[in-house]
Amino acid sequence: MSEKHDASENNDDAGKNQIWGGRFQDGPSAIMEAINASIDVDKRLWREDIAGSLAHSTMLARIGVLSADEVAKIHDGLGQIAAEIEAGTFPFSTALEDIHMNIEARLIALIGAPGERLHTARSRNDQVATDFRLWVRSAANGAAEAISALQNALVQLAAKHAGTVMPGYTHLQTAQPVTFGHHCLAYVEMLERDRGRFLDAAARMNECPLGAAALAGTSFPIDREMTAHALGFDRPTANSLDSVSARDFALEATGTASLTAVTCSRLAEEIVLWTSPHFGFAALSDAFSTGSSIMPQKRNPDAAELARAMVGRINAGHQTLLVVMKGLPLAYSKDMQEDKAATFAVFDALELVLAAMTGMIKDLTINADAMREAAGNGYSTATDLADWLVRVLGLPFRRAHHVSGAIVAIAEEKNLALDALTLEEMQSVEPQITNDVFNFLSVDASVASRTSYGGAAPKNVLAQVDRWLATLKGRDQ
Ligand code: ARG
Repeated sequence: MSEKHDASENNDDAGKNQIWGGRFQDGPSAIMEAINASIDVDKRLWREDIAGSLAHSTMLARIGVLSADEVAKIHDGLGQIAAEIEAGTFPFSTALEDIHMNIEARLIALIGAPGERLHTARSRNDQVATDFRLWVRSAANGAAEAISALQNALVQLAAKHAGTVMPGYTHLQTAQPVTFGHHCLAYVEMLERDRGRFLDAAARMNECPLGAAALAGTSFPIDREMTAHALGFDRPTANSLDSVSARDFALEATGTASLTAVTCSRLAEEIVLWTSPHFGFAALSDAFSTGSSIMPQKRNPDAAELARAMVGRINAGHQTLLVVMKGLPLAYSKDMQEDKAATFAVFDALELVLAAMTGMIKDLTINADAMREAAGNGYSTATDLADWLVRVLGLPFRRAHHVSGAIVAIAEEKNLALDALTLEEMQSVEPQITNDVFNFLSVDASVASRTSYGGAAPKNVLAQVDRWLATLKGRDQ
């Protein structure tokens, strides 16, 4: 706000009569500048903006709108601007509103007349749409890569714990024994869908709006195929109005970020549970724990809690963008300038979340004994008993369920595990039961039997680990 813009041209009497004008001693032009400027946010688009201008000017030279000498000067000037921004010496100005005008003004200051020709057959509307698409495309691809890294960490952990028995839960009540490797691979599957959504979104947004100009296209014989390909797009967008007003690509990406954050929050929550002394299934090292300022015994899983909480920030960014876009008439409206702060916040948070999740998964130490002990509690093999009654004695499942339930009731009353009951105690409920049943009541026997496709058996887990290792390796190449 300190830099005064020559906005006096807008500082007319009508402006001063605004109800909020009186509070601002500098008058409406100052607040106008403050609300209008986006440079503090959109300076992050400088690389994309320069790439767009390089492609545009090269194309203008190709069609004869710029001379070879002019385009050479423009490219030199843009190179110098990039160097200044990298070095932190670029004179960013709020008065020049946004990254597009900051760069263009600097180009004119550096190279003079040729710089004034750059904006031919272009508008800030197609410029910002192009810059932002480039940024979101790279953010989506970056998120997909970060997801792969997290998947890789989970697959490594699954490989180590293919046979580690843990309680499987429904309603967070002990349900049936599963393997920890199987549990890890569940997240690998979820993350694969999140990753796929990012890649789909990146593919769908891969059309170039540059050349749509303000909203109607241009009378210059521009080559939009050329600029599209120079910027790595598949093709130019086909409708100029849509080109400058579409932001669904960002909504799709931020929506996918929200879903990914939800996936991460569930795993983060499990880390919080597993590392609590009540579960004792896992521990985080000092690198991923924090202490309490008052309770010396505490080891807090703050990174997991924050990753869990950042769904809030990420979903808020997505919601912001939805609300900004809702009901906007075609084509460009300044409302759309609000797209960037929201989207940047989403991807900054998601990057942190994914990195923290990967770090924690690599860091976790698993207490297999505690998992196994918990897996045996709560009569988790009662279903295995019922299955045995069906398979061996030919009981209908509903009847077997009753018998198994009655046996669990006896075990509960005696405070014994199922396999600690005597054969006679079991036969008091169902006289046909034989000693064979005891081969099926341990947690190991239970998980080993879950060999149906997609089931929790260690051998299934190993097969899935192999499949994932091959898939992930293919991605690195
Ligand atoms: N800073 C603007 C934005 O981010 C650039 C486009 C401005 N276009 C306009 N017609 N005022 O949306």
